Amino acid sequence: MTELPNPYLPEPATIIEVLDETPNIKTFRVVLDDEQKMRDFSFDPGQVGQMTAYGAGEATFVINSPSTRMDYLQFSVMRTGEVTEALHGLRAGDKVGLRAPLGNSFPLAALKGKDVVIVGGGIGMAPLRTLLLTMLDNRADYGSITVLYGARSPEDLSYRYEFDEWTGGGADLTLTVDAEASGWEHRVGLIPHVLKDLAPSASNAVAVTCGPPIMIKFTVQALEELGFTDEAIITTLERRMKCGVGLCGRCNIGPKYVCVDGPVFTWAELKELPAEL
Ligand SMILES: Cc1cc2nc3c(=O)[nH]c(=O)nc-3n(C[C@H](O)[C@H](O)[C@H](O)COP(=O)(O)OP(=O)(O)OC[C@H]3O[C@@H](n4cnc5c(N)ncnc54)[C@H](O)[C@@H]3O)c2cc1C
Ligand code: FES
Repeated sequence: MTELPNPYLPEPATIIEVLDETPNIKTFRVVLDDEQKMRDFSFDPGQVGQMTAYGAGEATFVINSPSTRMDYLQFSVMRTGEVTEALHGLRAGDKVGLRAPLGNSFPLAALKGKDVVIVGGGIGMAPLRTLLLTMLDNRADYGSITVLYGARSPEDLSYRYEFDEWTGGGADLTLTVDAEASGWEHRVGLIPHVLKDLAPSASNAVAVTCGPPIMIKFTVQALEELGFTDEAIITTLERRMKCGVGLCGRCNIGPKYVCVDGPVFTWAELKELPAEL
């Protein structure tokens, strides 16, 4: 009898670089220890991985490097509990486990030829970074790319070191923080308010948003006011997962399993589900 691969078995991997993003977010650049598996590894933007901090457990993080750049896989981790605390204690050279790629991805083919509006809040910018860099690496395939990225304070914005790359690559970037801060020269105000003020056109456009649930709720309201239909609003959920492969029943919302049917959904799809979000 042929033995099926164990879906719970993590692949050994090594951290090659750790970046301090914010007071509670670190970015980990990771390579699989098996060189052939690293060379063969492929994923689509929006897919996630289960990362093991040995001795602490595993948790879900989006692969936030683009699939167009495969020197390493990048994960940004916000410290919230046991696993993320353990990961924050790791350095370059330390080992982690990885089960990836898991879940579905952003509908890149459907975005081609469209204007794309990206709205990210806090750690919610991580999956959107993957999408953004993938689109910038294929810039001619898309119309305008508008990015609105907000956080509580300037120190809470991740990826500050590459904002110039985003704008130089052809994205129109607006940054906002919740309250005035010394030296801050960008917008001040909550993301949905700034979005309404920017008023991107909904004509031939798709909006992709990720952030805390309350931000998503009011961002979607703002997008609807701007004329975006439920089919033209895409989000990616961070509902807690365990197995990541549709076996444990930990992540379902009604009939949908976030780990295999998601984490990426249109707002139209989410409206069909029980209101548990
Ligand atoms: C599809 C998906 C993608 C994700 N991508 C990222 C990412 O790129 N970066 C990142 O930092 N995090 C991401 N997360 C969230 C991350 O998986 C959790 O924060 C992680 O499980 C925390 O593990 P922990 O053991 O450190 O904390 P735990 O001990 O599990 O939790 C600590 C506290 O946070 C709460 N909590 C933990 N996870 C969640 C959650 N998903 N929703 C609401 N409350 C929660 C718990 O209730 C508890 O109060 C993602 C989650 C999913 C499902
Ligand atoms: S996490 Fe186990 S079924 Fe989705």
